[in-house]
Parts: sequence; C-alpha cells; structure tokens
Amino acid sequence: MSITPTSVALITGGASGIGFAIARKLLSQGSTVALVDLGAERLQAAARQLGGDVLTFEADITSEDSVQRAVGQLLASRQRIDVLVNSAGITGITNRKAADIPFEDFQRVVAVNLHGSFLTAKAVLPTMARQGFGRILLIASIAGKEGNAGMCSYSASKAGVIGLTKSLGKEYAETGVTINALAPAVIRTAMVDAMPPEQVKVNTDKIPMRRCGTLDEIAHVAAFIVSRENGFTTGFCYDLSGGRAVY
Ligand SMILES: NC(=O)c1ccc[n+]([C@@H]2O[C@H](COP(=O)([O-])OP(=O)(O)OC[C@H]3O[C@@H](n4cnc5c(N)ncnc54)[C@H](O)[C@@H]3O)[C@@H](O)[C@H]2O)c1
Repeated sequence: MSITPTSVALITGGASGIGFAIARKLLSQGSTVALVDLGAERLQAAARQLGGDVLTFEADITSEDSVQRAVGQLLASRQRIDVLVNSAGITGITNRKAADIPFEDFQRVVAVNLHGSFLTAKAVLPTMARQGFGRILLIASIAGKEGNAGMCSYSASKAGVIGLTKSLGKEYAETGVTINALAPAVIRTAMVDAMPPEQVKVNTDKIPMRRCGTLDEIAHVAAFIVSRENGFTTGFCYDLSGGRAVY
C-alpha cells in the first residue's frame, strides 16, 4: 500500500489577513504549512497563533534570490512542495488619479504583486512538475478584472497576475500542476484598514450583496482550489466578489 505523503503548502503573506486564514484552513486539513512573509517576529507570532506543523521563512517576494532561498530551505526540510498560495500583496497609494501617482509607487506595487507572483511560481514549478503534482493559487483581485478608479497601480498589477495565471496554466497543463487565480472583492484585513475610507467605500458599494467577504469564505474557496480533487481546472480566475464580477 502506498502512503500518501503529507501535503506541504507554502503560503506567502502568511503572517497576515488572507494568507494567514488560508494557512489556518490548510493546517486544519492536515497539511504542513510554510509561512513566507516579511519580518521574523511577525512570522513567529503567526506560527505561534496557528500551532501545529508550521515552518516560517522570512523572504521578500520581489527578490528572486530571497524566494529561491526560502523554497530551497523548505525543500531541504520537507523534500516536496504540493501547494503554493501567493497571497503577499500591497495596494500602494490609492484614492488618487494616475497623474498624481509617483512612478516609484507604481513600480513597487507591480514588483510585489506581479513580479512576486512570477518569482514564487517560477521557484516551485520545477519541483511540482517533477513530482507530477502541484497546485498554485495566485491571489489576484476584482480590481484586476474591472479596474478600480483610484487604484491604477494595483489594478494593473492584478490584471497582470490574471494574465500570468492563464499563461502558466497552459504551459504546465500536462504536468499534473494546476495554476489558478482568485479575484476577491473587499475582505476586511489590515490592507483594507490601511486604505482611505473613501476608497474602501467606493469598492464596497459596488458589491451587490452589500457586504464584504469574510476570511472564512476566502479560506474555504482557496482550500477547494488547491485540493487534490480539483484537478481539471487550470489557468482560470475564480470569483469571490459577492456578485460584482460579470465574467
Ligand atoms: N483584503 C482584500 O479586500 C483583498 C481583495 C482582493 C485581493 N486581495 C489580495 O489578497 C492578498 C492578501 O491581502 P490581505 O488583505 O491579506 O493583506 P495583508 O496586508 O493583511 O497581508 C499581506 C501580507 O503580505 C506581506 N507582504 C507584503 N509585501 C511583501 C513582500 N515583498 N514579500 C513578502 N511578503 C510581503 C505583508 O507583510 C502582509 O503580511 C493580496 O495579494 C491582496 O492584494 C485582498
């Protein structure tokens, strides 16, 4: 009888918000979880809060060396990576029109949200393809589908994440590795709390259900997307927008 190895999930942005909630969910389903984020103390605190089989790796997802190092350390410890959830992300300056956005801010948002998605996927894909199994979930946003006024850097970066997902899904379609994205509307986290209330109101008012999504709801959908049973969907962008998305 073959023994199914414990699933190993690497979650960026795992010290906070959506990444943390997904980590908690996967842990409750028996996965080993590796949190990747900025700040050793925040990571330790998150791991303590989660309990269970949690590893932590301090890494900046905008740096290829940093990402490769974290992935290498996880592989040295657990020999496999079944799941990548790239949840690390930033909004940059919001509630401002493009002419008032410093180019450095635009570049920083694209570096974290889009370059980070590419670099983390790139780092795990060879291992997953060799295993003949893997699940990659890139957290995009409804902003990437529709474009939120006042959030041009963020919207452009997340549209890039959706395009990247479509491309990777096709490239790796025959390997047993699926690559999907998830496009939430507003979920109350530290990221949203840090945004100007006017911007949050604009975004929330567009949700037909007239409420924000919850961390439990996103963790549930994410766990389904990266489950072994969800094997015939790749290159797709899942919705979590309370009815806002029309495609
Ligand atoms: N909260 C929402 O309403 C919402 C909606 C749509 C999409 N999203 C996306 O969901 C993801 C998670 O957002 P959240 O709401 O949980 O935010 P959050 O701020 O609570 O968590 C984001 C985490 O990413 C980490 N991070 C930022 N830059 C990093 C870097 N360079 N390297 C490593 N880690 C880095 C932060 O330290 C933080 O712990 C983001 O990609 C965000 O764009 C959020």
